[in-house]
Amino acid sequence: MKEGKGKEAMGKILKDLTDYTVYHFSTEEKLFEKHGYPESARHKKEHEDLTKQVLDIGRKYNAGEMVLTMDLMNFLKEWLNNHIMQVDKKYSTFLNAKGVK
Ligand SMILES: [Fe+2]
Ligand SMILES: [Fe+2]
Repeated sequence: MKEGKGKEAMGKILKDLTDYTVYHFSTEEKLFEKHGYPESARHKKEHEDLTKQVLDIGRKYNAGEMVLTMDLMNFLKEWLNNHIMQVDKKYSTFLNAKGVK
C-alpha cells in the first residue's frame, strides 16, 4: 500500500477469489449431478447467490464505483468459509459413500 500498489493487489486477490469460487462451485455441482445429490437444488441456489454477489462486487470495482477495503475482503473470506464449513459439510458423507474422496 505504501508503494501505491494496494489497489492493484486487492484487484488481483478479488479476481483470483472470483475465479476460484466459480471453479469450486462448478466442480461441486458436477459431482452433485453425477451422483444424484438430493440437496442439489438448494445448494446450487446458494452458489448462485454467492456468485452473483462476488461478480457484482467485481463489476463495481472495475467500473470504479467501489473501493476494495480490508473489511470487504474479510466479508468475502467469511462467506466463503461459512459456505465451505457449513453448507459443503452436508454433502461430504453422501459423496464419500459414493466413493468420492
Ligand atoms: Fe464448496
Ligand atoms: Fe458448495
